[in-house]
Amino acid sequence: MKLKLSEVTKRFDGHLVLDGISLALEKVHTLVLIGPSGGGKSTLLRIIAGLEYPDSGEVVIDDETVQFQEAALLQHRRTIGTVFQAFNLFPHLTALQNITLPLEKVHQHSPKEAEEIARQFLARFRLENHASKRPAELSGGQRQRVAIARAVSIKPKLLLFDEPTSALDPEMTAEVLDMIRELREEGRDFILVTHEMGFARQVADQVALLADGRIVEAGAVAQVFENPSSAASRDFLSKVLKY
Ligand SMILES: Nc1ncnc2c1ncn2[C@@H]1O[C@H](COP(=O)(O)OP(=O)(O)OP(=O)(O)O)[C@@H](O)[C@H]1O
Ligand SMILES: [Mg+2]
Repeated sequence: MKLKLSEVTKRFDGHLVLDGISLALEKVHTLVLIGPSGGGKSTLLRIIAGLEYPDSGEVVIDDETVQFQEAALLQHRRTIGTVFQAFNLFPHLTALQNITLPLEKVHQHSPKEAEEIARQFLARFRLENHASKRPAELSGGQRQRVAIARAVSIKPKLLLFDEPTSALDPEMTAEVLDMIRELREEGRDFILVTHEMGFARQVADQVALLADGRIVEAGAVAQVFENPSSAASRDFLSKVLKY
């Protein structure tokens, strides 16, 4: 994908949360956002997903400027697959129904088509035996894998994942990261917020480090991790890379 953010600014209750975010990437498959808590990563991701309005600035994906007006955003959101930290699934629906619901209601597939697509993705991610389970009957890792299968099933042009493993124990984290790696190898485009630095290093083409609403460091993985230029990023990286 080609991604251009120009001076994206966002305030919550007068508090500046994104302070003029600019980033221009000609070609990127996996952009990883890292940075300290409260730095604005989720807010930026939600703006790119069209779930939140910026106060000013511009988001351009593959030469298309995102129009921050409700009707245009409905269309934009249809092209993006999102997975958040936790509570992604509807608790009263089965794994299968969680995937078929958006396919029917948002993407206008017939119930039969939606079920075919959902079963195909459940099988692809080795979840076919869990199709009729509700989220409470699935492990945390299985829940996130269903959420990822749902995000991918809508044929998105871009996947946005916000700390999809932060609520999981190490074994389940590995399951979910394997799935992300598999999708990446398939050539999907991702923007991923993660605290898994080892994983970030393996999968990212580009890394942006956000702190206090600004991008304090951006570039190729090796450059950002091995040779950070600002004091703020050296400080953050020395803390997170310590262990
Ligand atoms: N809906 C909201 N209303 C008011 N303030 C908000 C809202 N969403 C986020 N904020 C504030 O914006 C700032 C940035 O939050 P954000 O969730 O984007 O950070 P983050 O980098 O994702 O942090 P973390 O790593 O902890 O997830 C925080 O100070 C947060 O309290
Ligand atoms: Mg966040």
